[in-house]
Amino acid sequence: MNHHKMKMAVLGASACWLGLTVATAADEMPPEKSLAGLEYELIGRDDIYDYRALDSYSEAPFLTTLVNEGKLPPVAERLPKEPIVFKTAAMSDGIGTHGGVFRHVIGGRPEGWNWMAGQHQGWGGINMAVQECLVRQGPRWQIKGEDQTGPLPNLAKSWTWNDDRTQLTMNLMEGVKWSDGEPFDTEDVRFWWEDNVEDKNVSSRLPAGSLADGAKMEVIDDHTFRFTFDKPQSETLVESLAYIQGCPGPSHILKDKHPKYNSDATYESYTNTLPNDLLPPVVLGAWVPVVHKPDELVVMRRNPYYFKVDENGQQLPYYNEMHFRLSTWGDRTTQAVAGTGDFSNMEDPGNYVEALRQSQSDDSPVKAQFGPRVLSWRLDLNLSEESADDDVDLALRKLFRNKDFRLALSHALDRNAVGQSIARGPFAYPYTGGYATGSPYYDAASTDYHPFDQDRANALLDGLGLKDTDGNGLRNLPDGGPDLAIDVQYTAGRNEDRKQLDAMTSLFAEVGIRLLPRGIDEANIDTIRTGGNYTALFQRRNLIVPTRETCESLPSGDACPYFHQPVDGKRALLDFEPELIAAYETFITSEDPVEKANATKDMQRLITENAYVIGTVQAPAALLVNKRVRNAHPGTPVFMYEWAEDGVIRERLWTPADQQLDELFPGTVAEY
Ligand code: GLA
Repeated sequence: MNHHKMKMAVLGASACWLGLTVATAADEMPPEKSLAGLEYELIGRDDIYDYRALDSYSEAPFLTTLVNEGKLPPVAERLPKEPIVFKTAAMSDGIGTHGGVFRHVIGGRPEGWNWMAGQHQGWGGINMAVQECLVRQGPRWQIKGEDQTGPLPNLAKSWTWNDDRTQLTMNLMEGVKWSDGEPFDTEDVRFWWEDNVEDKNVSSRLPAGSLADGAKMEVIDDHTFRFTFDKPQSETLVESLAYIQGCPGPSHILKDKHPKYNSDATYESYTNTLPNDLLPPVVLGAWVPVVHKPDELVVMRRNPYYFKVDENGQQLPYYNEMHFRLSTWGDRTTQAVAGTGDFSNMEDPGNYVEALRQSQSDDSPVKAQFGPRVLSWRLDLNLSEESADDDVDLALRKLFRNKDFRLALSHALDRNAVGQSIARGPFAYPYTGGYATGSPYYDAASTDYHPFDQDRANALLDGLGLKDTDGNGLRNLPDGGPDLAIDVQYTAGRNEDRKQLDAMTSLFAEVGIRLLPRGIDEANIDTIRTGGNYTALFQRRNLIVPTRETCESLPSGDACPYFHQPVDGKRALLDFEPELIAAYETFITSEDPVEKANATKDMQRLITENAYVIGTVQAPAALLVNKRVRNAHPGTPVFMYEWAEDGVIRERLWTPADQQLDELFPGTVAEY
């Protein structure tokens, strides 16, 4: 933080010197007090894992029984030629022992198992337990600066660029198998790319055209494939092939259900072909869902084909069973503190004080440590005129597309009040969009702060001709239109979202604008969000790394961001959006670190100067992990390159045998 302070001091001095001219320049962010207390040693890129054949392998003892009964092939045949080997030196508690249960509690509900068509499995680490991706971002939080050259390998064990960086050739691990024993190879990657990502009818998490303009893929052989690009790219582009964007699904199951291969199938039937009650799905992840009791529980059992081992040759994961209790996000923290759940990303600041108090005592089942501010909340106004529902909606969207209107909303927000509404104390810090302060790409000097200023908000709204024509205290839409009321959807189960909306509703009312918050349940909010089916949406979104869930925040590709989507391929960009697209492109394509850094500063400036989204506050989060759990590195941030569920490397977590919890389905694996 000293770094930021220093920059602001310099800026402050030049502001005085420049005198009046700065009055119209960007407002500076107020000083920030960090609460981060994470301490850890940074390590090299290759220190966490590598790929190699070991002399011998072992497995969870119950699997040996299944092998002896002829129900599974021997472990050496189930593993790839050169599995991923997790290095002991990087484990905070060392090599583990098989067995036991890891208990998650989540607020989401599995939509279905076809993640290739954009379906989620309920978040909170459940998607990530079933999906494995070409490359991996989560563990990067621990890697030293000079080794931060790009993502870590995963299914793609290596890759090379041609000289002018227009071709990226990726090499898959050989001999990886799906949880039903079928081989994973380039046919799965081809199907993922050609028939999901690049098929505009499929709502892939990596939307068509968003990896890079004109990107094409060709298969070279069973384990080699190549992307070709119109323009030179950089290593950064490879980050886009991590979770949730670059995770192939089982083509041997899905191809037959896809309209390209099956004339009876429709895109809708394809999307829904793996409903959440059809178990077990075929996965590459460490655990396989075997039971789903709606609104109660998902139980997963270890995947006997998982392609990772420790240095003793023990097949991972260490835990035999993983539970996802289907509850609420707030309950995740309550249960972690109570010791009935093993893990929580504490992200509801309303819980912080009490959870911290309880976790301080020696006999508390959990440890809690705050990281930097990586949680940020924002109001996304739908900027698409083309998709407006009716005349009133259209009139609203025209306003949303007006910078003065967005700035007025931003100035109408007393962000300290909004912050205090979710948690008393020093947790919340103002957020006006762009990178959160905990992002490696955050730059305070490029961030336009829109201080609370009702006069400025009113002047801007007056300037737009938005008058209270019927004297009821609310401004009216132009030309004798109805009251200026904005329907805002949010996730009903998220307390911190609702509390902020309550505060925002009062603040906007003070400048004559009505907010109409509408809580949507977990099962539906995701489709509404990614489909852009809303007038306005209030949510927590973390822009920390621009290549991650890019479509949430940036106009990368024709259909992004979600809050500004085209209809029939048509949309009118706002005047600064082309510049934002160019900045993103520079970030992805440039190999010059200075140019890259400047591109992220440009993004930050463009997003905040133009109030692309209406940010409210940003807060730190604390990771809660039960003390029974070993190898949960104490430095793990709740979020950085990826959520902690990935960053903490769950396949490597373990519990000593005498502290292991009883399994619900001992001795079993998913059967197909
Ligand atoms: C949800 C939760 C986060 C995290 C992610 C993982 O968004 O709120 O804390 O668990 O899921 O995908």
